[in-house]
Amino acid sequence: MFCYTFKGLYKRENQTMMKTFIVFCFKDKSESEYGIGYKQIIIKNMEIKIRQEQENDYKVVYELIELAFRNMEESDHREHFLVERLRKSEAFIPELSLVAEKDGEIIGYILMTKVEIVSDVKAMSSLALAPVAVLPKYQGQGVGGTLICEVHKRAVELGYGSAVLLGHKDYYPKFGYKKAIDLGIEFPFEVSYEYCMAVELLPNALKNVRGMVKYSKPFIN
Ligand SMILES: CC(C)(COP(=O)(O)OP(=O)(O)OC[C@H]1O[C@@H](n2cnc3c(N)ncnc32)[C@H](O)[C@@H]1OP(=O)(O)O)[C@@H](O)C(=O)NCCC(=O)NCCS
Repeated sequence: MFCYTFKGLYKRENQTMMKTFIVFCFKDKSESEYGIGYKQIIIKNMEIKIRQEQENDYKVVYELIELAFRNMEESDHREHFLVERLRKSEAFIPELSLVAEKDGEIIGYILMTKVEIVSDVKAMSSLALAPVAVLPKYQGQGVGGTLICEVHKRAVELGYGSAVLLGHKDYYPKFGYKKAIDLGIEFPFEVSYEYCMAVELLPNALKNVRGMVKYSKPFIN
């Protein structure tokens, strides 16, 4: 599965509109649709709206995250509390707190927050992707991937060139993530290096960067 973006025209309710499109491609094209939409995305015949989270979504998002991680062995089952703390922190970027909606129901959530990559000589701004969560009954249908592509795109629009995360080693490489250690980036946690990943959202954004990820306080506490 991969995605790319372009600007183009589409028709909706007899109106032609200009939008930035994400084309969302699945490995088996015969089974899937090419997705559309900066805001409206069709994946496997499911129409999804991606939008910035609002305050009145907090309760639903809290429950969604708790449910998504409930049966995940590697989880500490506290991700929903982490999001609550992150929203109140300086690391929070409202534009990078996104929900996926289907027919008005929130079925997915993603958040990117500020981090730094710190070396002896400098500190570089970057982002941490955490968490991404999809309601169990909608998992495996492209919602998580769509959220990741969209939050990456919006991060670039805000001027960010890279991101880091701790996560499933087989999932995130689909979206460009590589082992952070291969890029000279270390994590301040006692976790196998395989789960520590980083991505260049802009070409060569991490080329001459070496250092340790400095997470915001909510991740440490
Ligand atoms: C992980 C998660 C966000 C992915 O979202 P999703 O909508 O289910 O995933 P997508 O449909 O976009 O992608 C499906 C692909 O990812 C793979 N995938 C899903 N979860 C995976 C995992 N834990 N490890 C490895 N691959 C995984 C699927 O096998 C599938 O692969 P394919 O495209 O080769 O068939 C979602 O499953 C979820 O909420 N899980 C529980 C919470 C969680 O683990 N969050 C991430 C913390 S790092």
